[in-house]
Amino acid sequence: EDPSISPTPPMGFNNWARFECALNESLFTATADAMVSKGLLAAGYNRINIDDCWFSNYRAENGSLQWNSTLFPNGIIWLGQYLHERGFKIGIYEDAGNMTCGGYPGSQGHEHEDAATFVSWGIDYLKLDGCNVVIQKGRTNEEQFKALYSLWHEIFSNMTSPLVFSQSAPAYFSPDFQTVQNNTDWYTVMDWIPTTGELARHSDDIKVYGTNGHWEPGGHWDSIMANYGFEVRLARYQKCGYYNDPDFLIVDFPDLTIEEKKSHFALWASFSAPLIISSYIPDLTQEEVAYLTNKEIIAVDQDALCLQATLVSQDGNWDVLTKDLANGDRLLTVLNRGEETSSTKISLERVGLDPDEIYTAKDLWTGSTKTVQGTISLRNIISHATAIFRLSSSSLASTPTGMIFNTFSM
Ligand code: DGJ
Repeated sequence: EDPSISPTPPMGFNNWARFECALNESLFTATADAMVSKGLLAAGYNRINIDDCWFSNYRAENGSLQWNSTLFPNGIIWLGQYLHERGFKIGIYEDAGNMTCGGYPGSQGHEHEDAATFVSWGIDYLKLDGCNVVIQKGRTNEEQFKALYSLWHEIFSNMTSPLVFSQSAPAYFSPDFQTVQNNTDWYTVMDWIPTTGELARHSDDIKVYGTNGHWEPGGHWDSIMANYGFEVRLARYQKCGYYNDPDFLIVDFPDLTIEEKKSHFALWASFSAPLIISSYIPDLTQEEVAYLTNKEIIAVDQDALCLQATLVSQDGNWDVLTKDLANGDRLLTVLNRGEETSSTKISLERVGLDPDEIYTAKDLWTGSTKTVQGTISLRNIISHATAIFRLSSSSLASTPTGMIFNTFSM
């Protein structure tokens, strides 16, 4: 709603998919330290978000929420200071209902006091989940969710520095999650969600690492592809200041190949989705850090137009996505969904380019460029890998960019 709250999609860390409730203070301080030393903060990952289970089981006598002081011995105010001193923002989790999914005190009926608590703790970002929402008589589920998320939005709107508001509401109405609310209001919720916050989950969780951080293999690529499949239906809702959230980037999950992890990143960046990593950052390998900090691909995610790439074709094993970029370039993202290494040719007309014009295609993985006209050939794309190119009109590319800039800024 107010694009200045989050002019581009948020980037950072959240513990949930990797650790679930196995969280504590030192996880967050170690994560922050590693994000600094590995260059992730410098690359733009500047948010550290705490998910469910940080709570004490009970509210204080005055009604305010309390952190679990065994897990957070120095407290969340202290942790916020630790993070702020190092250049991070701190995010926290609550639930719109009367209990979180993990069974901790929810915010329903306590919205004003909980918002005030988070402000007094120095919190910059709230993820508001949607478990255990109590439906008032005479309201539909959708009306109740709308009332609660709108109330939080109103509270934030009246602040001089509003928190970034990450909303989970649409996920509770998504076609893959009907069991909870059992209705078909997914798009109805999507119609208002961009006006009440900066981002929104729209589908089920990316499959977690295992139970509370104990490894259980299987299904992670399928889960990434499932959320990708929901995300592609919602491109029209996204604009600068509001981002569809297909859930976390999972990086250190051993059943994903490096190509699958890189695809996950390239697809999320093509969507200009939030890039919130859920992994154990201190142990990320150099190869993993290298792709997560790829400047060219991060620039696509953070592009000033904030567009979500759209699917222009899905034939055979190939998904082709495209979007405009702020400097007039066009993005071409091609996913090999198949099980074999394969080659293909894509006509440039398919992504809306002039078939007669000469373009410079920059491979965003390698930085190498080639000149293309009419079609672009993609050779030996590994199973589940994604090719990602920035296409510039060659005439433009050969003009000194400084000059163009000066001319237009006068
Ligand atoms: C459901 C959400 O979708 C997850 O991301 C996580 O926040 C859990 N709830 C926490 O209980």
